[in-house]
Parts: sequence; structure tokens; C-alpha cells
Amino acid sequence: MKILVTGAAGLVGTEVCARLNRNGHEVYGLVHHVRTLVGNNAELIPGDVTQPRLGLDETTWQTLTNKVDLIVHSAAITDFGRPRELYQAVNTTGTAHVLELAAAAGARLIHVSTAYVCGEQDGRILESALDAGQRFGNHYEESKFEAELLVRKAASDGLAVTVVRPSVVVGAARTGVVREFKNIYVVLKLLSEGRVTAIPGHFDACVDLVPVDHVAALIADVVEKPADGLTLHAVGSSVSMRHLSDVLAEYPSFRVPRYVAPATFSAASLGDVERAYWERMLSLYESYFRRRQHFDDTVAAGFRGHKRAADGPAHLRKIIDYAVRAGYLGAPLPGVDEALAGVGR
Ligand SMILES: NC(=O)c1ccc[n+]([C@@H]2O[C@H](COP(=O)([O-])OP(=O)(O)OC[C@H]3O[C@@H](n4cnc5c(N)ncnc54)[C@H](OP(=O)(O)O)[C@@H]3O)[C@@H](O)[C@H]2O)c1
Repeated sequence: MKILVTGAAGLVGTEVCARLNRNGHEVYGLVHHVRTLVGNNAELIPGDVTQPRLGLDETTWQTLTNKVDLIVHSAAITDFGRPRELYQAVNTTGTAHVLELAAAAGARLIHVSTAYVCGEQDGRILESALDAGQRFGNHYEESKFEAELLVRKAASDGLAVTVVRPSVVVGAARTGVVREFKNIYVVLKLLSEGRVTAIPGHFDACVDLVPVDHVAALIADVVEKPADGLTLHAVGSSVSMRHLSDVLAEYPSFRVPRYVAPATFSAASLGDVERAYWERMLSLYESYFRRRQHFDDTVAAGFRGHKRAADGPAHLRKIIDYAVRAGYLGAPLPGVDEALAGVGR
């Protein structure tokens, strides 16, 4: 098949392109700022999803509409703490533009969403669920939710679409290897170095960690075995805040955070430096320390060519071990401004 992957230079996109290449597909990678993909055979196409026709010239647009059989849409702004308009422009309007290309090309679409479109709802989250009047933890979640609404509308108009919703994407299942240390890795760094010592959260709150290769494998499985009209949770295993504390405590040089009842936490009571780290970085993740969410993946299980990791703490150890080996954890933290550049998702 001829497949266009948007966000081809991203954490998920790179892994997807490599897999699709290996499976013998002809892959075109839409890239924005990054213009080279190391060790990847995708043909790169510079573009901007915020622009009509993805900012492509007429010839490129025509070529894609004539050639492409399937689109994997993974381009997005995934950093936290950016202006709402940016998330809307890239994640929501960008998806509308990709839907136009899919319709013009008569191509199938695999839309990469996030399990966190469920917002701050607690409990068991079904793949079929979307709009439950939920409150969102941030503008990123809101923009991805709105993108899914557009995708559902396009599906009801006849487009062949599958939605894949990863949870928190981390290092590979067997090795813990990851290309970039963002999102949860920044949290682990701030906590393990004792830059932030108290968290407003619950011991039984939990996040779901999914290895990046599992997300790419699920997408590649859906390429081979279409799942039109379905939404699939690309999730791994749950890690509670208690697990997080216990695993950090296993590393002699790491600090372990205290959990404080959210109602009694006050950033104003922190020292100047800790407050700066809290307000400018860790507070972006605040609601994740309180959520008790479990993502049901019954539908996805029917498409998975690999085993879901059963043991969250074991995988947490693996990704920490890799981050230590790579010199990211256990090394001194840069200044707040420098570290902010790595805050993601
Ligand atoms: N990583 C996670 O934990 C996670 C969890 C759940 C869901 N997801 C979803 O999975 C997908 C992939 O995430 P990821 O982790 O691979 O993100 P990522 O590493 O941040 O990559 C996103 C890619 O989107 C591209 N992009 C940004 N703005 C663009 C624009 N205006 N036009 C075209 N491309 C643009 C970027 O291109 P340049 O680099 O060239 O600027 C980047 O390569 C996203 O849809 C995300 O919402 C990710």
C-alpha cells in the first residue's frame, strides 16, 4: 500500500514508518520542522497540517490524492502548557485538513488520538465512549477530543476510519529504549532529584504506560487488518502513585515524593526554587496525580499481534533503568528554563 504518515518525525510516527517500511509498504512521511529521519526509508514531504491542503503545492496535493491508499495521522502538538489556540490549530483544525485529504484521495484513515480524551472521568473507560460531558485536564486533551468528534462525523459521512488511542507512550517493551525524554520522564526527573518533594495526589491514582513499539505494532496491525469504524485503546499497564514511590525508592540515589491531600496542598508554602519547578513544570501534570482511570481494551485485544505488558511497575523499572543508562536520570537537572524545553505531552 501507499501510506502517508503525518507527524512522521515524532516519537510514534518514526516507529510507525519503520514498521510499515519493513512490512513492504511505500511510505510517505509528512514532516513539519524536522526534515530528516534517521534510519528510515520514508519519502519525506514537508507540510503543515494547520494550513488548508496541509500547505502542499498543487502538484504534491494531486500526487497524494492520486496515490495514497491510507493515511496514519499522528501529527500533533503534544507538549503541555502551550496556548489553547495552538492546540486547536494543530490538533483539531489540522485533523480537519487531514480528513479532507483522506476524502479527496478515497483513502482509509488511522487517526492517532489519546486515551485521555476521556478527560478527568474516573473508573473504567471504554473504547466506545467519547462524549460524556467530561472536564478536561488541559487544552491538549480538549483539542484531541474535538478532533475525534470531527473524525466521528467524517466516519458517519462514509470515510473509512479507525481511531487508535495510546495512553502515555514510553520506552520499548523489551529494552525501555526511547528516542526522547519527554512528559513522564520529566516528571520522573523532577521527583527523583527532589526538585519537587510534595505532590497533591492520591496513592491509588494511576497512569497507564504503553511501550512505543506496542503502539506502532497495533497501528501496523490495523493497516493489515482494517478495523473501520472502531476505536482501539493502545494501552499497556497501570502504574499507581504508590508503585511510582516504591519503584523510585529502589534506587539509592533517588528521592521519593510525599503525597499531600489535594485540598491541603498549597504551592505558596513551597520554597522559591521548588515553587518555580512546581508552577512552571510539574503543575502541568497535576490532574494525572489524582485520576483513577482504567482503560478497557477489549476491542484492541482482537487486533494485537503482541502481548500487553501485565506488570506496570516492572515496565516502569525498565524505562527508568534505560533513562539512567542514557544519563538522563541520576544526572544533575538543568535550570528551570532549559528543562522547560523538554516538558511534553
Ligand atoms: N507520546 C505520548 O505519550 C502520546 C500519548 C497519547 C497519544 N499520543 C498521540 O500520538 C500522536 C503522536 O505523538 P508523538 O508522541 O509521536 O508526538 P511528537 O513526538 O510530539 O510528534 C508529533 C509530530 O507532529 C508534528 N507536527 C507538529 N505540528 C505540526 C504541523 N503544524 N504540521 C505538521 N506536523 C506537525 C511534529 O513535526 P516536527 O517535529 O517536524 O515539528 C512532530 O514530529 C499524537 O497525535 C499524540 O496526540 C501521544
